[in-house]
Amino acid sequence: MNPVMNVEEITKTYGKKGEKQYQALKGVSFQVQRGEFVAVMGASGSGKSTLLNILSTLDRPTSGRVEINRKDITQLRKNQMADFRGREIGFIFQEFNLLDNLTARENIALPLTLRGISAKRIDPLVTQIATKLDIMGILDQYPVSISGGQKQRVAAARALVHEPSILLADEPTGALDSNSARELLQTMAKLNQDEHVCVLMVTHDPFSASYADRILFIKDGKISHQIVKGNQTRRFFYRELLDALGTTSD
Ligand SMILES: Nc1ncnc2c1ncn2[C@@H]1O[C@H](COP(=O)(O)OP(=O)(O)O)[C@@H](O)[C@H]1O
Ligand SMILES: [Mg+2]
Repeated sequence: MNPVMNVEEITKTYGKKGEKQYQALKGVSFQVQRGEFVAVMGASGSGKSTLLNILSTLDRPTSGRVEINRKDITQLRKNQMADFRGREIGFIFQEFNLLDNLTARENIALPLTLRGISAKRIDPLVTQIATKLDIMGILDQYPVSISGGQKQRVAAARALVHEPSILLADEPTGALDSNSARELLQTMAKLNQDEHVCVLMVTHDPFSASYADRILFIKDGKISHQIVKGNQTRRFFYRELLDALGTTSD
């Protein structure tokens, strides 16, 4: 079966030729299979956000290719990229990135509104995803009046309302308290298991990573190794992960 995402030897060098340059990614390759929940873990500065920005088409690699559903996104023109992103990719960030002057409902609907889809078609889609994320009760509130955990659920609903091929998340629990973080991770794991939403999450936090099926470790711009959850429970996987970090961290 074709992977949802195929990443081949991507490199990223910041800075123009002749100026001070920094190679943030040094040849990263991996695949994400349909229905997988993959975490990418690494210390601050290891290249996680650089990688995610490239995978989400917000930035381009210096070399290498990224295929999503067999389409090489690094070859798309700017307007094609925006269109592709709008259809195939959902993302959530640490900082929610909700629009303050729109209600939760309007925020969630935004990706569809921007594509010119009619309100009549949007409403049931918003209801469907809001039910799954348990935020029906706050849909008519503005971001200022809801909690951080609720904001991230609204952001997740916005990321998923158009049923993307893959959900990309950059430190999605980074701004949440531990209870809200746990609830969000449980919801993401449930959406992955029940709805087969494919997730790629980058994080420096082992607890968050323990919700994934597989964890790729990135160090100094390269994937160093991976660990796979297999049949063990999340708790055991978390312990294995802590042990792995204990022996490989510097
Ligand atoms: N726009 C940029 N220009 C120059 N260097 C950058 C830029 N963005 C990130 N870097 C550098 O690339 C490295 C990886 O950064 P980043 O991908 O943000 O790491 P992480 O998300 O793992 O903390 C860091 O050394 C960072 O300073
Ligand atoms: Mg980062």
